[in-house]
Amino acid sequence: MKKEVLETLKHNKGRFISGEELSNRLGVTRTAVWKHIHQLKEEGYRIESVSKKGYKLLEEPDILNENALQLDLDTKIIGKRIIHLNTIDSTNTMAKKIAAEDGEEGTIVIAEEQTEGRGRLGRKWVSPKGTGIWMSLILKPSIEPTEAAKITQIAAAAVALAIRKVTGCEAGIKWPNDIILERKKVCGILTEMSAELNCVNYVIVGIGINVNGDMEAFPEDIKKTATSVKASAGKTVSRKAIVLYILREFERLYLDFIQSKSLQKSVEICKKYSVTLGNPVKIINRDRQIVAEAVDLTEEGELVIRNQKGELEKIISGEVSV
Ligand code: BTN
Repeated sequence: MKKEVLETLKHNKGRFISGEELSNRLGVTRTAVWKHIHQLKEEGYRIESVSKKGYKLLEEPDILNENALQLDLDTKIIGKRIIHLNTIDSTNTMAKKIAAEDGEEGTIVIAEEQTEGRGRLGRKWVSPKGTGIWMSLILKPSIEPTEAAKITQIAAAAVALAIRKVTGCEAGIKWPNDIILERKKVCGILTEMSAELNCVNYVIVGIGINVNGDMEAFPEDIKKTATSVKASAGKTVSRKAIVLYILREFERLYLDFIQSKSLQKSVEICKKYSVTLGNPVKIINRDRQIVAEAVDLTEEGELVIRNQKGELEKIISGEVSV
């Protein structure tokens, strides 16, 4: 019911709606209305209450809970269920547990803070409270396990589009899983999977974006290579606006991939905003290190490099440093 109260206040944003009208419209007592308003205020919604006039929504906080997101979300599957937590070890770890216990495709786990956020190659992902987007998407695609890496490209395209659209900043994509602002990393994507030999049980796409972190608060070793959206945009940015845009764009590109069995739409975006292509790169792949030039992305989202012998090679995954 809190969701319905909020929805009605949002529809009437900036003007008063009386307690009586709210209780009549929603079929609950005025005391119940008052309780929900009280809870919304505690969540950070600025609501003016004036006797005989009622309630007026003045400002919405930048919170990422199910009510706040779903009222503005028009997706079909992505975000149909949103699990929002204040603190968790890792949203990817929790998403895996939910996925394994029949969690539905499109479910999202999102946290204000991660105490054991995980990055690629066993690295730690620093995830301080309230400053970033730490979220994981549960997917259950009918694809071959070898195709799961393509989903990272879909996520990278969606995040780059979202940051560009919401802030106007020129977000770039460093193949395969980093989003870059002014030559520094602002977002990392960790795609994990559970699969049998030729069938995927689930895929978890973990997205970590430093949105409003202050650079002074970054650990010394990370400062040189990492940034936040706020540092680039020069102002605090709405996490909610970025999450909503990512979910919409991700769904559009993901459904297109599943239905058309082609990654073309995402690859186009990844190429357009690539900071990798045309540059020398060092690729670290298991025990192999290759110094080469990044030349192209294939239709399957693989990186084409020209190695030092001048030969073209396709790389499916790996750690790239530009
Ligand atoms: C990387 O660049 O190494 C990937 C970082 C991925 C971080 C995100 S934050 C949400 C999700 N939960 C995790 O523990 N990791 C991912």
